[in-house]
Amino acid sequence: LVIRDRISQTIDFPAEDRPAGSPDITVVVPCYCEAANVRPLVEALTRALAGRDWEVVFVDDNSPDGTIEAVREVARSNWRVRGISRIGRRGLSTAVIEGALSSSATYIAVMDGDLQHDETRLGIMLDALASGRCDIAIGSRHVEGGDNSGLANAWRHALSNGGITLAQMILPVRVGDPMSGFFALRRDLFVRTAPRLSGAGFKILMDLILSAPIKVRVEEIPCTFKPRLAGESKLDVLVMLQFLGLMLDKLFHGWLPIRFLVFAFVGLVGVIVNIAIMNVLRLSGVDFPIAQTGGTFVAMLVNFWLDNTLTYRDRRLKGTRLYGGLFLFLVVCSAGAWANIGIAQLFHDDGQTFDKASATGAVIGVVWNYAVSSTLIWRR
Ligand code: GDD
Ligand code: MN
Repeated sequence: LVIRDRISQTIDFPAEDRPAGSPDITVVVPCYCEAANVRPLVEALTRALAGRDWEVVFVDDNSPDGTIEAVREVARSNWRVRGISRIGRRGLSTAVIEGALSSSATYIAVMDGDLQHDETRLGIMLDALASGRCDIAIGSRHVEGGDNSGLANAWRHALSNGGITLAQMILPVRVGDPMSGFFALRRDLFVRTAPRLSGAGFKILMDLILSAPIKVRVEEIPCTFKPRLAGESKLDVLVMLQFLGLMLDKLFHGWLPIRFLVFAFVGLVGVIVNIAIMNVLRLSGVDFPIAQTGGTFVAMLVNFWLDNTLTYRDRRLKGTRLYGGLFLFLVVCSAGAWANIGIAQLFHDDGQTFDKASATGAVIGVVWNYAVSSTLIWRR
Protein backbone atom coordinates (compact mmCIF):
# COMPACT_ATOMS: atom_id res chain seq x y z
CA LEU A 1 0.00 0.00 0.00
CA VAL A 2 2.75 2.35 0.97
CA ILE A 3 4.50 1.33 -2.21
CA ARG A 4 1.46 1.89 -4.44
CA ASP A 5 1.21 5.33 -2.98
CA ARG A 6 4.61 6.12 -4.48
CA ILE A 7 3.22 5.90 -8.00
CA SER A 8 0.87 8.76 -7.42
CA GLN A 9 -1.25 10.26 -10.12
CA THR A 10 0.21 13.05 -12.17
CA ILE A 11 0.58 16.01 -9.84
CA ASP A 12 1.25 19.51 -10.95
CA PHE A 13 4.62 20.71 -9.89
CA PRO A 14 4.55 23.79 -7.70
CA ALA A 15 4.96 26.85 -9.86
CA GLU A 16 8.27 28.26 -8.70
CA ASP A 17 10.40 30.93 -10.21
CA ARG A 18 13.72 29.75 -11.41
CA PRO A 19 16.41 31.28 -9.21
CA ALA A 20 19.50 32.77 -10.75
CA GLY A 21 22.70 30.74 -10.71
CA SER A 22 23.32 27.02 -10.47
CA PRO A 23 21.60 24.90 -7.87
CA ASP A 24 23.23 23.65 -4.70
CA ILE A 25 22.53 19.98 -5.40
CA THR A 26 22.50 17.93 -8.59
CA VAL A 27 20.85 14.52 -8.32
CA VAL A 28 22.35 12.33 -11.05
CA VAL A 29 20.11 9.49 -12.18
CA PRO A 30 21.47 6.91 -14.64
CA CYS A 31 18.55 5.35 -16.44
CA TYR A 32 17.98 2.76 -19.08
CA CYS A 33 14.41 1.81 -19.95
CA GLU A 34 12.89 3.64 -17.00
CA ALA A 35 10.26 5.72 -18.85
CA ALA A 36 7.52 4.73 -16.40
CA ASN A 37 9.65 5.72 -13.41
CA VAL A 38 10.74 9.22 -14.43
CA ARG A 39 7.73 11.22 -13.31
CA PRO A 40 7.22 9.33 -10.01
CA LEU A 41 10.89 9.87 -9.21
CA VAL A 42 10.70 13.62 -9.88
CA GLU A 43 7.63 13.79 -7.65
CA ALA A 44 9.41 11.85 -4.91
CA LEU A 45 12.43 14.18 -5.14
CA THR A 46 10.15 17.23 -5.07
CA ARG A 47 8.82 16.04 -1.71
CA ALA A 48 12.15 14.84 -0.31
CA LEU A 49 14.14 17.93 -1.26
CA ALA A 50 11.50 20.55 -0.52
CA GLY A 51 13.17 23.71 0.76
CA ARG A 52 16.51 22.84 -0.83
CA ASP A 53 18.08 24.19 -3.98
CA TRP A 54 18.26 21.16 -6.28
CA GLU A 55 18.04 19.85 -9.82
CA VAL A 56 17.96 16.36 -11.26
CA VAL A 57 19.74 15.14 -14.39
CA PHE A 58 18.66 11.90 -16.01
CA VAL A 59 21.36 10.25 -18.10
CA ASP A 60 19.81 7.90 -20.63
CA ASP A 61 21.51 5.68 -23.18
CA ASN A 62 18.97 5.96 -25.98
CA SER A 63 16.55 3.54 -24.31
CA PRO A 64 14.10 1.96 -26.76
CA ASP A 65 11.21 2.64 -24.36
CA GLY A 66 11.54 6.40 -24.85
CA THR A 67 12.96 7.24 -21.42
CA ILE A 68 14.49 10.49 -22.67
CA GLU A 69 11.13 11.56 -24.11
CA ALA A 70 9.58 10.96 -20.68
CA VAL A 71 12.32 13.16 -19.21
CA ARG A 72 11.74 15.93 -21.76
CA GLU A 73 8.02 15.77 -21.11
CA VAL A 74 8.55 16.44 -17.40
CA ALA A 75 11.33 18.95 -18.07
CA ARG A 76 9.02 21.08 -20.19
CA SER A 77 7.05 22.03 -17.10
CA ASN A 78 9.80 21.76 -14.49
CA TRP A 79 13.11 23.61 -14.75
CA ARG A 80 14.64 21.38 -12.07
CA VAL A 81 14.70 18.51 -14.54
CA ARG A 82 17.40 17.99 -17.18
CA GLY A 83 18.25 15.08 -19.45
CA ILE A 84 21.39 13.85 -21.13
CA SER A 85 20.87 11.50 -24.05
CA ARG A 86 23.82 9.35 -25.09
CA ILE A 87 23.67 7.58 -28.40
CA GLY A 88 25.67 4.49 -29.32
CA ARG A 89 27.00 3.94 -25.83
CA ARG A 90 25.98 1.98 -22.75
CA GLY A 91 27.11 1.87 -19.16
CA LEU A 92 25.85 2.83 -15.74
CA SER A 93 29.17 4.16 -14.40
CA THR A 94 29.99 6.32 -17.41
CA ALA A 95 26.42 7.65 -17.36
CA VAL A 96 26.92 8.76 -13.75
CA ILE A 97 30.26 10.36 -14.61
CA GLU A 98 28.83 12.36 -17.47
CA GLY A 99 25.81 13.45 -15.45
CA ALA A 100 28.02 14.59 -12.58
CA LEU A 101 30.39 16.43 -14.88
CA SER A 102 27.45 18.30 -16.40
CA SER A 103 26.75 19.84 -13.01
CA SER A 104 27.85 23.15 -11.54
CA ALA A 105 26.34 22.45 -8.13
CA THR A 106 28.18 22.18 -4.83
CA TYR A 107 26.93 18.65 -4.16
CA ILE A 108 26.31 15.60 -6.32
CA ALA A 109 23.91 12.86 -5.27
CA VAL A 110 23.68 9.66 -7.29
CA MET A 111 20.66 7.42 -7.24
CA ASP A 112 18.93 4.80 -9.40
CA GLY A 113 16.04 5.74 -11.64
CA ASP A 114 13.81 2.83 -10.68
CA LEU A 115 12.56 4.05 -7.26
CA GLN A 116 14.52 1.36 -5.43
CA HIS A 117 16.53 3.87 -3.44
CA ASP A 118 14.89 5.71 -0.56
CA GLU A 119 15.00 9.35 -1.60
CA THR A 120 13.76 10.47 1.81
CA ARG A 121 17.31 9.78 3.10
CA LEU A 122 18.86 12.32 0.73
CA GLY A 123 18.45 15.20 3.18
CA ILE A 124 20.35 13.33 5.88
CA MET A 125 23.08 12.42 3.43
CA LEU A 126 23.47 16.01 2.26
CA ASP A 127 23.50 17.30 5.84
CA ALA A 128 26.23 14.81 6.72
CA LEU A 129 28.32 16.23 3.87
CA ALA A 130 27.56 19.82 4.80
CA SER A 131 28.69 19.19 8.38
CA GLY A 132 32.15 18.33 7.03
CA ARG A 133 32.18 15.00 8.89
CA CYS A 134 32.64 12.98 5.73
CA ASP A 135 33.67 13.19 2.08
CA ILE A 136 31.13 10.67 0.82
CA ALA A 137 27.74 9.93 2.37
CA ILE A 138 26.53 6.48 1.42
CA GLY A 139 22.98 5.15 1.54
CA SER A 140 23.76 1.82 3.13
CA ARG A 141 21.85 -1.43 3.44
CA HIS A 142 24.47 -2.95 5.68
CA VAL A 143 24.53 -0.77 8.75
CA GLU A 144 22.25 -0.80 11.77
CA GLY A 145 18.80 0.20 10.50
CA GLY A 146 19.51 -0.55 6.83
CA ASP A 147 17.57 -3.12 4.88
CA ASN A 148 18.25 -5.06 1.75
CA SER A 149 14.91 -6.77 1.21
CA GLY A 150 14.59 -5.33 -2.30
CA LEU A 151 17.11 -7.73 -3.78
CA ALA A 152 15.15 -10.06 -6.00
CA ASN A 153 16.21 -13.43 -4.58
CA ALA A 154 18.65 -15.52 -2.53
CA TRP A 155 20.97 -15.74 -5.53
CA ARG A 156 21.25 -11.94 -5.69
CA HIS A 157 21.88 -11.83 -1.93
CA ALA A 158 24.68 -14.39 -2.19
CA LEU A 159 26.28 -12.54 -5.10
CA SER A 160 25.95 -9.24 -3.31
CA ASN A 161 27.61 -10.60 -0.17
CA GLY A 162 30.41 -12.18 -2.19
CA GLY A 163 31.03 -8.89 -3.97
CA ILE A 164 31.10 -7.00 -0.67
CA THR A 165 33.67 -9.38 0.81
CA LEU A 166 35.85 -9.01 -2.26
CA ALA A 167 35.47 -5.24 -2.28
CA GLN A 168 36.35 -4.90 1.40
CA MET A 169 39.62 -6.73 0.79
CA ILE A 170 40.92 -3.92 -1.38
CA LEU A 171 39.13 -0.81 -0.08
CA PRO A 172 41.29 1.63 1.90
CA VAL A 173 38.39 2.46 4.24
CA ARG A 174 35.79 0.33 5.94
CA VAL A 175 32.51 0.46 4.02
CA GLY A 176 29.63 -1.81 4.99
CA ASP A 177 27.90 -1.37 1.64
CA PRO A 178 30.52 -0.67 -1.02
CA MET A 179 28.15 -1.88 -3.74
CA SER A 180 25.62 0.84 -3.05
CA GLY A 181 24.58 2.94 -5.99
CA PHE A 182 23.10 5.61 -3.69
CA PHE A 183 25.55 8.21 -2.37
CA ALA A 184 26.46 11.87 -2.30
CA LEU A 185 29.69 13.85 -2.35
CA ARG A 186 31.01 17.31 -3.07
CA ARG A 187 31.22 18.01 -6.77
CA ASP A 188 34.79 19.31 -6.51
CA LEU A 189 35.91 15.92 -5.14
CA PHE A 190 34.12 14.19 -7.99
CA VAL A 191 35.73 16.46 -10.56
CA ARG A 192 39.20 15.94 -9.07
CA THR A 193 38.67 12.16 -9.13
CA ALA A 194 37.06 11.92 -12.57
CA PRO A 195 40.24 11.71 -14.68
CA ARG A 196 41.30 8.62 -12.70
CA LEU A 197 38.00 6.77 -12.81
CA SER A 198 37.89 3.50 -14.70
CA GLY A 199 34.18 3.86 -15.53
CA ALA A 200 33.67 0.16 -16.09
CA GLY A 201 30.50 -1.60 -15.01
CA PHE A 202 28.04 -0.75 -12.24
CA LYS A 203 30.20 0.09 -9.25
CA ILE A 204 30.94 3.78 -9.57
CA LEU A 205 31.08 4.23 -5.77
CA MET A 206 33.93 1.70 -5.44
CA ASP A 207 35.62 3.28 -8.40
CA LEU A 208 35.39 6.70 -6.70
CA ILE A 209 36.71 5.56 -3.33
CA LEU A 210 39.59 3.67 -4.95
CA SER A 211 40.48 6.47 -7.37
CA ALA A 212 40.08 9.54 -5.14
CA PRO A 213 43.22 11.62 -4.64
CA ILE A 214 42.55 11.63 -0.88
CA LYS A 215 41.75 8.90 1.63
CA VAL A 216 38.03 9.52 1.74
CA ARG A 217 36.05 9.59 4.95
CA VAL A 218 32.73 7.87 4.50
CA GLU A 219 29.57 8.01 6.53
CA GLU A 220 26.90 5.38 6.00
CA ILE A 221 23.28 6.35 6.34
CA PRO A 222 20.93 3.42 6.89
CA CYS A 223 18.66 2.88 3.90
CA THR A 224 16.11 0.42 2.68
CA PHE A 225 16.58 -1.01 -0.80
CA LYS A 226 13.03 -1.34 -2.09
CA PRO A 227 11.75 -3.88 -4.57
CA ARG A 228 11.58 -2.76 -8.17
CA LEU A 229 8.04 -1.92 -9.32
CA ALA A 230 8.43 -1.29 -13.03
CA GLY A 231 10.96 -2.39 -15.61
CA GLU A 232 13.71 -4.85 -14.86
CA SER A 233 17.22 -5.02 -13.44
CA LYS A 234 20.09 -4.71 -15.92
CA LEU A 235 22.53 -6.53 -13.68
CA ASP A 236 23.71 -9.76 -15.26
CA VAL A 237 26.69 -12.09 -15.46
CA LEU A 238 28.51 -9.67 -17.74
CA VAL A 239 28.11 -6.85 -15.24
CA MET A 240 29.63 -9.10 -12.60
CA LEU A 241 32.58 -9.90 -14.85
CA GLN A 242 33.03 -6.15 -15.31
CA PHE A 243 33.11 -5.82 -11.51
CA LEU A 244 35.96 -8.35 -11.33
CA GLY A 245 37.69 -6.37 -14.08
CA LEU A 246 37.31 -3.16 -12.06
CA MET A 247 38.78 -4.80 -8.96
CA LEU A 248 41.77 -6.11 -10.96
CA ASP A 249 42.28 -2.74 -12.60
CA LYS A 250 42.41 -1.03 -9.22
CA LEU A 251 44.65 -3.71 -7.68
CA PHE A 252 47.18 -3.10 -10.44
CA HIS A 253 46.70 0.68 -10.27
CA GLY A 254 45.49 0.93 -13.83
CA TRP A 255 48.55 -0.74 -15.33
CA LEU A 256 46.41 -3.55 -16.74
CA PRO A 257 43.74 -2.08 -19.02
CA ILE A 258 40.45 -3.83 -18.37
CA ARG A 259 39.62 -4.05 -22.04
CA PHE A 260 42.83 -5.90 -22.73
CA LEU A 261 42.19 -8.32 -19.86
CA VAL A 262 38.74 -9.09 -21.17
CA PHE A 263 40.02 -9.36 -24.71
CA ALA A 264 42.67 -11.84 -23.58
CA PHE A 265 39.96 -13.88 -21.85
CA VAL A 266 37.83 -13.87 -25.00
CA GLY A 267 40.90 -14.79 -27.04
CA LEU A 268 41.54 -17.76 -24.75
CA VAL A 269 37.98 -18.96 -25.28
CA GLY A 270 38.61 -18.62 -29.03
CA VAL A 271 41.75 -20.72 -28.78
CA ILE A 272 39.90 -23.44 -26.91
CA VAL A 273 37.03 -23.40 -29.41
CA ASN A 274 39.51 -23.51 -32.28
CA ILE A 275 41.35 -26.54 -30.89
CA ALA A 276 38.16 -28.35 -29.93
CA ILE A 277 36.50 -27.94 -33.33
CA MET A 278 39.72 -28.83 -35.12
CA ASN A 279 40.02 -32.05 -33.11
CA VAL A 280 36.39 -32.99 -33.65
CA LEU A 281 36.82 -32.54 -37.41
CA ARG A 282 40.12 -34.44 -37.37
CA LEU A 283 38.52 -37.36 -35.53
CA SER A 284 35.80 -37.51 -38.17
CA GLY A 285 38.50 -37.91 -40.82
CA VAL A 286 38.89 -34.34 -42.12
CA ASP A 287 42.35 -33.25 -43.34
CA PHE A 288 44.27 -30.93 -41.03
CA PRO A 289 44.14 -27.74 -43.13
CA ILE A 290 40.38 -28.03 -43.53
CA ALA A 291 39.87 -28.97 -39.88
CA GLN A 292 41.94 -25.94 -38.84
CA THR A 293 39.98 -23.70 -41.22
CA GLY A 294 36.71 -24.89 -39.69
CA GLY A 295 38.06 -24.39 -36.14
CA THR A 296 39.27 -20.90 -36.97
CA PHE A 297 35.97 -19.90 -38.54
CA VAL A 298 33.88 -21.01 -35.57
CA ALA A 299 36.37 -19.37 -33.19
CA MET A 300 35.98 -16.11 -35.15
CA LEU A 301 32.20 -16.22 -34.79
CA VAL A 302 32.43 -16.94 -31.07
CA ASN A 303 35.02 -14.19 -30.61
CA PHE A 304 32.88 -11.67 -32.46
CA TRP A 305 29.88 -12.44 -30.31
CA LEU A 306 31.84 -12.35 -27.03
CA ASP A 307 33.69 -9.17 -27.95
CA ASN A 308 30.44 -7.49 -28.86
CA THR A 309 28.70 -8.43 -25.62
CA LEU A 310 31.69 -8.26 -23.26
CA THR A 311 34.90 -6.58 -24.43
CA TYR A 312 33.23 -3.74 -26.31
CA ARG A 313 29.98 -3.79 -24.36
CA ASP A 314 30.00 -0.01 -24.10
CA ARG A 315 30.30 0.31 -27.89
CA ARG A 316 28.06 -2.65 -28.67
CA LEU A 317 26.94 -2.97 -32.28
CA LYS A 318 23.25 -3.54 -32.87
CA GLY A 319 20.87 -3.94 -35.80
CA THR A 320 22.38 -3.24 -39.19
CA ARG A 321 25.63 -2.06 -37.63
CA LEU A 322 25.93 -5.51 -36.06
CA TYR A 323 25.78 -7.21 -39.45
CA GLY A 324 28.09 -4.65 -40.96
CA GLY A 325 30.53 -5.18 -38.12
CA LEU A 326 30.35 -8.96 -38.40
CA PHE A 327 30.90 -8.76 -42.14
CA LEU A 328 33.90 -6.48 -41.74
CA PHE A 329 35.21 -8.65 -38.91
CA LEU A 330 34.98 -11.80 -41.03
CA VAL A 331 36.48 -10.19 -44.13
CA VAL A 332 39.38 -8.49 -42.40
CA CYS A 333 40.06 -11.37 -40.01
CA SER A 334 40.03 -13.84 -42.87
CA ALA A 335 43.31 -12.34 -44.01
CA GLY A 336 44.65 -13.07 -40.53
CA ALA A 337 43.00 -16.46 -40.57
CA TRP A 338 44.76 -17.45 -43.81
CA ALA A 339 48.08 -16.42 -42.31
CA ASN A 340 47.04 -18.29 -39.19
CA ILE A 341 46.31 -21.48 -41.13
CA GLY A 342 49.56 -21.14 -43.03
CA ILE A 343 51.51 -20.68 -39.82
CA ALA A 344 49.77 -23.63 -38.19
CA GLN A 345 50.53 -25.73 -41.28
CA LEU A 346 54.20 -24.68 -41.17
CA PHE A 347 54.46 -25.63 -37.52
CA HIS A 348 52.73 -28.91 -38.23
CA ASP A 349 55.05 -29.71 -41.16
CA ASP A 350 57.87 -28.90 -38.78
CA GLY A 351 56.86 -31.90 -36.70
CA GLN A 352 54.74 -30.13 -34.04
CA THR A 353 51.59 -31.79 -32.73
CA PHE A 354 48.23 -30.69 -34.10
CA ASP A 355 47.35 -28.99 -30.81
CA LYS A 356 50.52 -26.91 -30.68
CA ALA A 357 50.36 -25.97 -34.33
CA SER A 358 46.71 -25.01 -34.02
CA ALA A 359 47.26 -23.01 -30.83
CA THR A 360 50.15 -21.07 -32.34
CA GLY A 361 48.07 -20.13 -35.36
CA ALA A 362 45.17 -19.12 -33.15
CA VAL A 363 47.28 -16.91 -30.85
CA ILE A 364 48.60 -15.00 -33.85
CA GLY A 365 45.01 -14.66 -35.05
CA VAL A 366 43.97 -13.20 -31.68
CA VAL A 367 46.64 -10.48 -31.78
CA TRP A 368 45.54 -9.56 -35.28
CA ASN A 369 41.91 -9.54 -34.15
CA TYR A 370 42.68 -7.13 -31.33
CA ALA A 371 44.31 -4.61 -33.63
CA VAL A 372 41.43 -4.81 -36.09
CA SER A 373 38.70 -4.79 -33.45
CA SER A 374 39.85 -1.73 -31.56
CA THR A 375 40.55 0.36 -34.62
CA LEU A 376 38.04 -0.73 -37.25
CA ILE A 377 35.12 -2.68 -35.84
CA TRP A 378 34.36 -1.16 -32.43
CA ARG A 379 36.02 2.20 -32.97
CA ARG A 380 34.92 5.12 -30.84
N1 GDD B 1 22.35 5.23 -18.60
C1 GDD B 1 22.38 3.96 -18.20
N2 GDD B 1 23.07 3.05 -18.95
N3 GDD B 1 21.72 3.58 -17.08
C2 GDD B 1 21.76 2.28 -16.72
C3 GDD B 1 22.45 1.31 -17.45
C4 GDD B 1 23.15 1.73 -18.64
O1 GDD B 1 23.78 0.97 -19.35
N4 GDD B 1 22.30 0.11 -16.82
C5 GDD B 1 21.53 0.35 -15.75
N5 GDD B 1 21.19 1.64 -15.69
C6 GDD B 1 20.35 2.31 -14.68
C7 GDD B 1 19.01 1.65 -14.44
O2 GDD B 1 18.02 2.13 -15.31
C8 GDD B 1 18.74 2.03 -13.00
O3 GDD B 1 18.20 3.32 -12.91
C9 GDD B 1 20.12 2.03 -12.37
O4 GDD B 1 21.02 2.23 -13.44
C10 GDD B 1 20.43 0.74 -11.64
O5 GDD B 1 20.25 -0.34 -12.53
P1 GDD B 1 19.40 -1.64 -12.13
O6 GDD B 1 19.44 -2.54 -13.31
O7 GDD B 1 18.09 -1.26 -11.55
O8 GDD B 1 20.35 -2.21 -11.03
P2 GDD B 1 20.04 -3.14 -9.78
O9 GDD B 1 18.74 -2.79 -9.14
O10 GDD B 1 20.28 -4.55 -10.11
O11 GDD B 1 21.28 -2.68 -8.91
C11 GDD B 1 21.21 -1.68 -8.01
O12 GDD B 1 21.59 -2.25 -6.80
C12 GDD B 1 22.92 -2.41 -6.62
C13 GDD B 1 23.17 -3.04 -5.29
O13 GDD B 1 22.68 -4.33 -5.24
C14 GDD B 1 22.02 -0.44 -8.37
O14 GDD B 1 21.65 0.60 -7.50
C15 GDD B 1 23.42 -0.57 -8.14
O15 GDD B 1 24.02 0.70 -8.31
C16 GDD B 1 23.57 -1.07 -6.74
O16 GDD B 1 24.91 -1.15 -6.46
MN1 MN C 1 17.32 -1.44 -9.71
